[in-house]
Amino acid sequence: LAATDYQAEDALISQGTVASNHTGFTGTGFVDYTNVRGSYVEFTVSAASAGPASVTLRYANGTTADRPMDLSVNGTVVAPAVSFPATADWNTWAAKSVNVTLKAGSNKIRATATTANGGPNLDRVSL
Ligand code: GCU
Ligand code: CA
Repeated sequence: LAATDYQAEDALISQGTVASNHTGFTGTGFVDYTNVRGSYVEFTVSAASAGPASVTLRYANGTTADRPMDLSVNGTVVAPAVSFPATADWNTWAAKSVNVTLKAGSNKIRATATTANGGPNLDRVSL
């Protein structure tokens, strides 16, 4: 089954802005997390049936420091402090995949920055 893409710029954003000041993003831009702990992007995704799914986050981190984020599903943190290590620069995107369990129908997947640096720039999630 082909993956479905959910663009970060279309998601619910708390403490972040839609930006397009770097290259290589998909859609019309990406989310620039405000550089604070607790900034997040929340995606509403659809699952045909309940069960395991691999969620892939496409991100860029042009610094030298990790930008960890908690991944929550429907309000519960299922993957704490997932590592989003440096990419070559802000124009270079990498993929990080996390295994989650979804319920049938609509699910909320939230990626929340756990450090004062905020999250990485986030292009999309696919699952
Ligand atoms: C730079 C970069 C942003 C990035 C920010 C950060 O300002 O242009 O895209 O989000 O650094 O450190 O988070
Ligand atoms: Ca930022």
